[in-house]
Amino acid sequence: MGDQDNGRRAALVTGASRGIGAEIATRFAADGWDLTISARSPEPLKELAIRLSGKFGGRVEVVTADAADEEQLTHLAAMHATEYGRLDALVLNAGMGQKGPIEELPARRLDKLYQVNVRSAYVMLQALIPTLRSTAELAGAAKVIAIASITGVHPEPELAAYGATKAALISLCETFNLEESAAGVSATTISPGYVNTDMSSWTAIPQEEMITAADVAVMALAVTQLSRYAVLPGVVLTRPGTNLGRA
Ligand SMILES: NC(=O)c1ccc[n+]([C@@H]2O[C@H](COP(=O)([O-])OP(=O)(O)OC[C@H]3O[C@@H](n4cnc5c(N)ncnc54)[C@H](OP(=O)(O)O)[C@@H]3O)[C@@H](O)[C@H]2O)c1
Repeated sequence: MGDQDNGRRAALVTGASRGIGAEIATRFAADGWDLTISARSPEPLKELAIRLSGKFGGRVEVVTADAADEEQLTHLAAMHATEYGRLDALVLNAGMGQKGPIEELPARRLDKLYQVNVRSAYVMLQALIPTLRSTAELAGAAKVIAIASITGVHPEPELAAYGATKAALISLCETFNLEESAAGVSATTISPGYVNTDMSSWTAIPQEEMITAADVAVMALAVTQLSRYAVLPGVVLTRPGTNLGRA
């Protein structure tokens, strides 16, 4: 086991190579956390790790894993537990999008979305429950933060498959809270509308009118400051004006 008693909090962030995940990793590193960062592409992860440990002085481990591959996810969870021996925050951020009307989008696309956006979260939670529980015992609380989407709360045309996976992710986290929160481990879903990352670049909405990745990261960090006695099931971040409640 790793540095269980050094007093430094440790987080595992998936989908950390760019976008919201990279911003969350940066905010956590700046706040004094040690990190495991993961995604499929090694190069941007390595660059981020060097940048964060150089700037903030914490430890940053890189583990590549495809969220569609259970074996790779199990390895990622085991690597984090071995390296740090604690998990104060599990940030389930890796995800993919897909657009198309129900009439046209093939069911196999839904299968892939489900694997990456939902099944991966289930696998990671299952693998890391023992570490989350022992961290809550040691430090008082451990948090899971899952990046869902406003489409999982308010349906949007042509985003049925994506929205259904995000609704499933929200449901998974709610059940997780029923089962685990008495032990000091609780999950919060953050459900934003369009955020200014690569994932939303296909829309006609100007990036400067979108929620920022920093907004999501600040919210994620805030969740970690809650005690074990406060369970926050979910947060919706919506764009201003007449877009309220829409992606
Ligand atoms: N942008 C939005 O408008 C928006 C709105 C609401 C919710 N979200 C959610 O926010 C999360 C982050 O999205 P983002 O906007 O930051 O998107 P992004 O810029 O496309 O980044 C996605 C991240 O997930 C990783 N990833 C993608 N597929 C993966 C896979 N199969 N296995 C492992 N990692 C994978 C990517 O790295 P690799 O490609 O290197 O694997 C990357 O680090 C997603 O869950 C998304 O659904 C986004």
